[in-house]
Amino acid sequence: MTPLSWAVAAIASVLVHIAQVHASVTIYNNNGMQQQPVGTDTAAGATATNSSIPQWLADMPAFNSIVLQAPAIPSPAPPNQFTLNLQGSTANVPGISIKQNGTFLGFSIEMSVATQVIGINSTFLQVPFLNLMALLAQRGGTVPVRVGGNTQEFATLVGSIADGKALEKDKEDTSNPTATPNLVFTSEIIYMLNNVSALVGVKWYLGIPFNDTSNLRLGIAEAGEAILGDNLLGFQLGNEPDLYVNHGHRPQGWNQTNYFEEFGAVIQAIANDVNIPVRNNLIAPSVSGAWTPESVFDTGFIPAYTGSLGFLAVEHYPDNNCAAAFPGSTSAAPVVPQDVFPNYLSHNAGNSIVSAYLDTSSIALQAGKPFIMFETNTASCGGFPGVSDSFGAALWGVDYGMVMAFNNFSQALVHVGGVSDTYNPFTPPPTNISTSKQWTIGPIFYSTIVIAEALGPTGTAQVFDLGANGNNIYTPGYAIYENGNLARVLLVNFVTDASGASTYTATLSFAGGNVPGSVSVKYLLAPSVSEKDNITWAGQTFGSKFESDGRLRGNETISTVQCDQGAGTCAIQVPAPAVALVFLTSSALQDVSPSSTQTFSTTAVTKVGHSATIDATALATSNGNTGADRQKLSSTSKGSSGASSMMPAVPTAAVLIVTGAASLLLTLGLSH
Ligand SMILES: *[C@@H]1O[C@H](CO)[C@@H](O)[C@H](O)[C@H]1NC(C)=O
Ligand SMILES: *[C@@H]1O[C@H](CO)[C@@H](O)[C@H](O)[C@H]1NC(C)=O
Ligand SMILES: *[C@@H]1O[C@H](CO)[C@@H](O)[C@H](O)[C@H]1NC(C)=O
Ligand SMILES: *[C@@H]1O[C@H](CO)[C@@H](O)[C@H](O)[C@H]1NC(C)=O
Ligand SMILES: *[C@@H]1O[C@H](CO)[C@@H](O)[C@H](O)[C@H]1NC(C)=O
Ligand SMILES: *[C@@H]1O[C@H](CO)[C@@H](O)[C@H](O)[C@H]1NC(C)=O
Ligand SMILES: *[C@@H]1O[C@H](CO)[C@@H](O)[C@H](O)[C@H]1NC(C)=O
Ligand SMILES: *[C@@H]1O[C@H](CO)[C@@H](O)[C@H](O)[C@H]1NC(C)=O
Ligand SMILES: *[C@@H]1O[C@H](CO)[C@@H](O)[C@H](O)[C@H]1NC(C)=O
Ligand SMILES: *[C@@H]1O[C@H](CO)[C@@H](O)[C@H](O)[C@H]1NC(C)=O
Repeated sequence: MTPLSWAVAAIASVLVHIAQVHASVTIYNNNGMQQQPVGTDTAAGATATNSSIPQWLADMPAFNSIVLQAPAIPSPAPPNQFTLNLQGSTANVPGISIKQNGTFLGFSIEMSVATQVIGINSTFLQVPFLNLMALLAQRGGTVPVRVGGNTQEFATLVGSIADGKALEKDKEDTSNPTATPNLVFTSEIIYMLNNVSALVGVKWYLGIPFNDTSNLRLGIAEAGEAILGDNLLGFQLGNEPDLYVNHGHRPQGWNQTNYFEEFGAVIQAIANDVNIPVRNNLIAPSVSGAWTPESVFDTGFIPAYTGSLGFLAVEHYPDNNCAAAFPGSTSAAPVVPQDVFPNYLSHNAGNSIVSAYLDTSSIALQAGKPFIMFETNTASCGGFPGVSDSFGAALWGVDYGMVMAFNNFSQALVHVGGVSDTYNPFTPPPTNISTSKQWTIGPIFYSTIVIAEALGPTGTAQVFDLGANGNNIYTPGYAIYENGNLARVLLVNFVTDASGASTYTATLSFAGGNVPGSVSVKYLLAPSVSEKDNITWAGQTFGSKFESDGRLRGNETISTVQCDQGAGTCAIQVPAPAVALVFLTSSALQDVSPSSTQTFSTTAVTKVGHSATIDATALATSNGNTGADRQKLSSTSKGSSGASSMMPAVPTAAVLIVTGAASLLLTLGLSH
């Protein structure tokens, strides 16, 4: 198998494992747990220290303690003084991107881990997940989240599951390491997603199973459209079809033409299904590199199916950790994380991925379809410990995101796996310690915040790569325009240099008129690209492993830089390493700086850990879609899970606090 196919097969086998682990545990037991008052944004519950992390946890890739060496200062070092000549309006910026939404970076959540990350069912939502999504939605607008992946292909919507669960692995076959778990799920999962949408601005991508197109299972599309309504963005049809043959899911010789034909058969089946009224929202071809998108388009794919296609998509990881994650699985030598660390720490990293898709992006633009990087992260087969979970990955995510935005991708979804992965933007604690530990927020989550603030909520953001510092790959910079006018500048410094000598000063020079008196700057900071814990965005942090309830902690710090209006310049310092986001107008700043005056009822408490739940009554009265149709669609057996020790604490007061127009934060009152 190719490394890529290995990557996917290996991920599938990890997911089998995760699904098995998940099936045997129960969370949400509040008995005897310490309760802590929820304060303002500085409250965080328990603080885990290194010494409190037992070895079995540290052995899980998601919680590893590997800290690499930061790469040496490049030689020659990038010049540390340079000028950026900025045009005031897009009229003078040929080649600027299409208009982008603020939540350009969303998430791809493997279907089999949805019940760990999003919630257990429609009445048990993970509050940290809601907080994280709310934080992005406040800054950039609706957050796109895909629930799917390899597991979607073998998933089946059923009326009920015997033990009352909403999602479960159907049968266990560990004999084949590439086995994809066959999932069964009930419409409860879709109600769960809709309840998330009702609380925070999340919209969903799902996938229609494509494992057997002559025996289709369209239940997810029927229930998805009925329950999610406008909260559904679209359905992927075929996840990485270029790897089907390697995975044994299609016979040798199955090719782009076969994909074209099977795709057409599903479109026909959808057209014949009165319960699938929306028929223009399919996502394809979602190839991962074994086929080029163009080789699929060469079949006449786009014109043949343009009425059904809502989006064009690809999936890509720039490297893989398969040899190390699955010893003996490949003849390739295990990658040494330290060796590949520098690959992520320059503007070449994003450009080398995106350059392969410039043609596709322009085809998509001509076809009038948004072009999505549907699944991506630092490296497949779990990422590289010390790389994927370092501040370097946060810088990589910011620059890669901006490169994609500049090159007319419309969205990119950062993949979320489980405890076997080091690249997760967020990871709940293993379920058997979910009452004593909180979530781990990965560095790449900070990338999603920075991009959301860089692009903002107007839906008019246009991005231009400034070729900063003579195109120096260690110091990329971007101008962001809104409504045609310069709004923000984003500057990256990939170098680590504690001496301060590699801190650079970018002199923003405004070509004629409109020189601001001062500008505001937010920094994404850490002492080194190898840092894993001490990461801050505008002074705020999610803390280190097991410390987060999904809210930023600490006081926000925004720097003010006085400009030289005579010279028409503002000098911005960018430490090594850092990202600086410069706000050129007050609205550019205010639009993405939610009020930090969230307050809570003094009776609102949460227990240590992440397992606070949302009160069902609050959800039932919230403004979602078609909650009233529930009985028509679902015969989920409720309350059959039995043992009282497994029952949740009864939430007595769900607190949903709206501060000002934009600020939304959730917490829970538990009575015990
Ligand atoms: C604690 O940190 C030390 C070094 O800082 C590291 O060697 C050790 O593995 C860590 N232990 C755990 C359990 O994370
Ligand atoms: C931005 O979001 C709007 C509303 O969801 C959508 O119609 C539009 O296509 C999005 N733009 C891009 C570039 O994805
Ligand atoms: C497709 O997936 C379903 C559900 O897991 C399974 O029952 C069926 O056998 C699969 N079909 C093929 C051809 O693999
Ligand atoms: C796929 O295989 C069929 C049968 O061999 C062949 O006719 C067709 O041209 C192939 N399509 C592509 C895109 O290679
Ligand atoms: C992105 O689209 C715009 C048209 O809106 C075009 O001018 C620009 O060249 C495109 N960028 C790339 C890299 O194709
Ligand atoms: C949780 O499960 C792990 C095995 O996955 C075990 O080593 C550990 O002791 C358990 N911890 C508790 C608190 O039950
Ligand atoms: C955290 O990092 C900042 C730089 O980003 C540094 O100034 C500060 O001293 C660090 N704090 C700790 C506790 O290491
Ligand atoms: C945050 O700001 C408040 C009010 O200005 C102050 O009382 C508090 O000490 C600050 N907290 C930190 C961690 O700096
Ligand atoms: C949320 O879930 C509850 C319980 O299943 C359901 O009654 C309610 O209608 C749901 N709300 C929405 C907005 O879907
Ligand atoms: C959600 O799961 C919990 C715990 O398993 C269970 O008590 C509750 O009844 C479930 N809710 C629904 C709507 O199925």
